[in-house]
Amino acid sequence: MSEPNSIPVFDLQNLIDPYPMYKQLRDEAPVYHVPELNMYYVTSYELLRQVIRDTSTYSSQYDDFMAFSRDAGMANLPDEIKGAVGEKMREMIPTPPTMLTLDEPDHTKYRSLVSQLFTVSEIKKSEADVQAVIDQHADTFLESDGEFMKGFAFPVPLEIISVRLGIPQADREFFYDAATCAAAGLRIQQLTHEETLRRAQVAVDLQNLLISLVEARRAEPLNDMITILANSKLEEENRLLTHGEILSILQQFLVAGHETTTSAFGWSMWLLCRNPELQDKLRGNPEGIKVFVEETLRIRAPVQGLPRKVTKDTELGGVKIPAGSFIMLRYGAANMDEKQFPNPDQVDLERKKAGMQMAFGSGVHFCIGAPLARQELTLGLPAILDRIGNIRLNADYTPAAEPSLILHNLPELHVEFDRRS
Ligand code: HEM
Repeated sequence: MSEPNSIPVFDLQNLIDPYPMYKQLRDEAPVYHVPELNMYYVTSYELLRQVIRDTSTYSSQYDDFMAFSRDAGMANLPDEIKGAVGEKMREMIPTPPTMLTLDEPDHTKYRSLVSQLFTVSEIKKSEADVQAVIDQHADTFLESDGEFMKGFAFPVPLEIISVRLGIPQADREFFYDAATCAAAGLRIQQLTHEETLRRAQVAVDLQNLLISLVEARRAEPLNDMITILANSKLEEENRLLTHGEILSILQQFLVAGHETTTSAFGWSMWLLCRNPELQDKLRGNPEGIKVFVEETLRIRAPVQGLPRKVTKDTELGGVKIPAGSFIMLRYGAANMDEKQFPNPDQVDLERKKAGMQMAFGSGVHFCIGAPLARQELTLGLPAILDRIGNIRLNADYTPAAEPSLILHNLPELHVEFDRRS
């Protein structure tokens, strides 16, 4: 396969809307070497699966990649701000890798402990509570200015994860701010120096809050996730998790769990506005809703991609890749691969195997929170569709995703609608 001319994968426009570029990459170079970095973009469904399955060649231990991105984000700060942020970081408890950035066998020991929190039956138990949060916010949204992200998509997943974790009501406002700051770390944003310092302080305060809750639950267990994490033992080592390990796990719930479900709500509303005929088709149609949720996740994957580190010289899709390189998996591109999903741009409620979409990844790192995210989306969308009809984009605003290499979300989505009686 001939190498295409340089494709500007990091151009702002391609970080905001990568889909035209994905098509070019899939057609011309499904394994594309990014010339300025030691990195290969992988965009076809089949090749993504191949990488994800072969965990001995393609490792999830890519913390150095994340550190590199963080340092690049700090590079232009004046020395005194860098120094002040560094000081804050030294106050923090170091968090070892636990799931996302670990390989077997260490990955398995944490994953098997955490998976008890997210089994389908465990999630089902809390359906009534989830429904109550959704109904309350759907009612409030009716009275709002129609900005769907602030009015529904953001508060619902955050409140649900806060309740499951056991964050006390009094700490919720701080917790919401801290969760937003944690996810914002994965975006390309110009922050003021004051905001950079404020976020560093928020990260320290969040750790302090979570550790105080862990200790409180060790003294007096409650019926929440922090209690389980605080009191469960790692089987093989017969010991409780350290503070650092618990913080690492909770941080993954926050970034991987809350922000992504918010994005999925946003993209599903965007699709309902762009395909208005779906609104009537989906009302009172729980099976249709399930497929629509999968189609939303396929058409606009909230996690566009994550890296893998190449452990030995190898070849992928006919391209030689040296050990030490990074692979950039593009779930968003694989989900639009026409070889796997005919007419990929279309929402197809009859699509066979819609659940084969890759927005939750695949293999040993398959998203542990998928049952929770699916529950929130399949309960949340009917609650909205029951209350409003003729939902359309507000013509004064053009929805645009925030630029990011990893996440894909709409910061705002202004809609108009008619109330249904
Ligand atoms: C629509 C919502 C969500 C999307 C699109 C999503 C996406 C993903 C993806 C793509 C991965 C795979 C990473 C890889 O291959 O390396 C992943 C893993 C993970 N997700 Fe989700 N996620 C969602 C919701 C959640 C929720 C609600 C939680 C928990 C509260 C969660 C927690 C995690 C964790 C802990 C992992 C790491 C699993 C492991 O490495 O074994 N996610 N997620």
